[in-house]
Amino acid sequence: MALILGIESSCDETAAALVASDRRVLAHRLAGQEEAHRPFGGVVPEIAARAHVEILPRLIGEVLADSGVGLAEVDAIAATAGPGLIGGVMVGLVAAKGLALASGRPLVAVNHLEGHALSPMLSDPELGFPYLLLLVSGGHCQLLFVEGVGRYRRLATTIDDAAGEAFDKSAKLLGLGFPGGPAIERAAQAGDPAGVPLPRPLVGSEDPHFSFAGLKSAVLRARDEGRYRPEDIAASFQQAVVDCLVDRTARALDKAEGATALVAAGGVAANGAIRAALGTLAGSRGLPFVAPPLWLCTDNAAMIAWAGAMRFEAGLVDSLDAPARARWPLDPSADKVRGAGVKA
Ligand code: KG4
Ligand code: ZN
Repeated sequence: MALILGIESSCDETAAALVASDRRVLAHRLAGQEEAHRPFGGVVPEIAARAHVEILPRLIGEVLADSGVGLAEVDAIAATAGPGLIGGVMVGLVAAKGLALASGRPLVAVNHLEGHALSPMLSDPELGFPYLLLLVSGGHCQLLFVEGVGRYRRLATTIDDAAGEAFDKSAKLLGLGFPGGPAIERAAQAGDPAGVPLPRPLVGSEDPHFSFAGLKSAVLRARDEGRYRPEDIAASFQQAVVDCLVDRTARALDKAEGATALVAAGGVAANGAIRAALGTLAGSRGLPFVAPPLWLCTDNAAMIAWAGAMRFEAGLVDSLDAPARARWPLDPSADKVRGAGVKA
């Protein structure tokens, strides 16, 4: 049994956690920065990086104090090394390197996406490889065939915006606030999911790729028409995203031979309507549907510590030269997709 200290700082959550390789989360702490970014309607990288510097040392201290574990008893220090906002990633990674140096324990440089990808295994001991993963967050929207630790085959990605980005931008257009995902989900509860005609980009196309930019533009047009209630636009938008995710995931399941489960992770997987629809899809294919509890879907350090634990146990540790990376694809061999605004 190994004890791993994990650090997350790639976006606007500062987080630390202590996780054991037998799936016990001994302590976890998270400090959001929503208040600092709210006036700007989105995350400001420089503000985020400075906030991580201020908050992280306290969180690490609290996690160790809470769990009653000394640094000398920790087996490895894991930190997100990318992808993400580079200033923030550097803050967390440098902190981890300092702790690794001070304790003489190895560093595990974790890909944030691998944290999300393996997080369902922390909450569900039954889940085994291989599984089809829908990774839906603020920066990413991908379907990955997860074969093992460090073995990810990307079946599809977005050709423009990520799903969470579409939630955030649409919420901003509707004046629902930031972060947009939870705001849209709340507003949608009082709205009609069939009230506003919106497109389902790429639905029915052969490759299971995603596209959300056109949907966001359609939300803008619907708003400007002035005859729809924001709740109805929110509910119709959420329904359109559900339909796109389900159609594309169904297409990927056709290609994911041998998958033992359908798994969803990332911040958008916290959405109740999306979870319910994916559960129905999995059931129709005779597969279990696995999604981590909500706190483990959105950014946190327990998933980084857990990915660190799985990598540590597989002998995958890093030197103190490990770089912070703004971009870091999980499957570097995946083909580039052509689209309006393709992101790495
Ligand atoms: O994984 P995450 O916490 O950070 C990234 O790595 O991007 O995901 C954040 C994204 C944001 O776009 C946020 O609006 C979205 O997840 N999100 C949601 C919900 N909760 C968070 N989207 C839809 N419904 C939700 N309940
Ligand atoms: Zn994330």
